[in-house]
Amino acid sequence: MAEQAVPATAREWHLAARPQGWPAPTDFALVEAPVRTPGPGEILVRNTHLSVDPYMRGRMNDVKSYVPPFQLGAAMDGGAVGYVVASEAEGFAPGDAVLHGLGWREYATLDAGNAVKVDPDAAPLSAYLGVLGMPGLTAYAGLLAVGALKEGDKVFVSGAAGAVGSLVGQIARLKGASLVVGSAGSAEKVAKLVDEYGFDAAFNYKDAPVAEQLAKAAPEGIDLYFDNVGGDHLEAAIGALGVHGRAVLCGAIAQYNETTAPAAPRNLAMAIGKRLRLEGMLVRDHAALQPQFVTEVAGWLKSGELRTEETVVDGFENAAEAFIDLLRGVNTGKMVVRLEG
Ligand SMILES: NC(=O)c1ccc[n+]([C@@H]2O[C@H](COP(=O)([O-])OP(=O)(O)OC[C@H]3O[C@@H](n4cnc5c(N)ncnc54)[C@H](OP(=O)(O)O)[C@@H]3O)[C@@H](O)[C@H]2O)c1
Repeated sequence: MAEQAVPATAREWHLAARPQGWPAPTDFALVEAPVRTPGPGEILVRNTHLSVDPYMRGRMNDVKSYVPPFQLGAAMDGGAVGYVVASEAEGFAPGDAVLHGLGWREYATLDAGNAVKVDPDAAPLSAYLGVLGMPGLTAYAGLLAVGALKEGDKVFVSGAAGAVGSLVGQIARLKGASLVVGSAGSAEKVAKLVDEYGFDAAFNYKDAPVAEQLAKAAPEGIDLYFDNVGGDHLEAAIGALGVHGRAVLCGAIAQYNETTAPAAPRNLAMAIGKRLRLEGMLVRDHAALQPQFVTEVAGWLKSGELRTEETVVDGFENAAEAFIDLLRGVNTGKMVVRLEG
């Protein structure tokens, strides 16, 4: 690729304030900062796509969690892909495409050990932030390793039109689930799940109580629930799960902007009588599945058996708005910010 001059300064997004409840654009600040020349073992990357993900909302709070909080007045970070423009690291050369963790900025200088080379000819670069990246592995490992999906299982997934959920439903179908039900937040998303992604049934959780709609979609109940939402979705799933049913607790997005504890699930004690297994998961525990995941998912993409979608927001200056829109459900499939094509 053509050599490009590296500017002396470039933009990065800082956390300006910690939100109470829903984040606002004023909680973020766009800051011009020096682009640091790489030292020994480091590379300088020009980011082409940034990931905005629901877990970043938790990092805006000053609480101890499985990922450290963003620091006030400092650059935020997260998944990104781009091209190496300068390298002081063995095995990395200008023009190499890489995936790394210093998103929310136009240029990133980082230890090459924290970057992974990716093949821009095998898939569009942004796919490494979505279907072939962290959300893809979350769906694959959550459903197969944690949820132990079996052929014939009746599966329900919430957040079903999102990056993780849309893959969970399709992988369940490809692996022989006998029923795949999804919930999402608009009529358009619901139609897409059934018409394009091959779900057997789907419903808009805003139309009527989740338990009521789930009972209609899965009258004989479910064996496996993949939870992206928490709250009343989890309560409805506990009600619908049969004896020895399993729930994969992947996310609880309905709670991320709430300032009070959720009312549901109120029926957790049913887990005893039904001998349910409710298991939390973190994708980072499943790195060992990465090669198997990439091989199998890339195969399904090539054969056309797996459909994916991205919601692409153009312009680095729109990243904060894109993140807020993700929490609002503006996206279908993976939400990415494109800095350049
Ligand atoms: N445990 C892990 O390692 C791990 C890894 C990755 C992701 N996750 C979790 O997986 C979930 C999905 O992540 P993703 O990256 O695929 O995001 P995503 O589903 O692509 O985007 C978030 C979606 O959440 C939905 N949503 C927002 N508020 C909601 C509410 N109150 N009730 C129901 N749905 C709501 C919106 O869609 P609607 O229009 O349908 O409302 C929105 O599009 C999140 O909970 C995330 O935290 C966990």
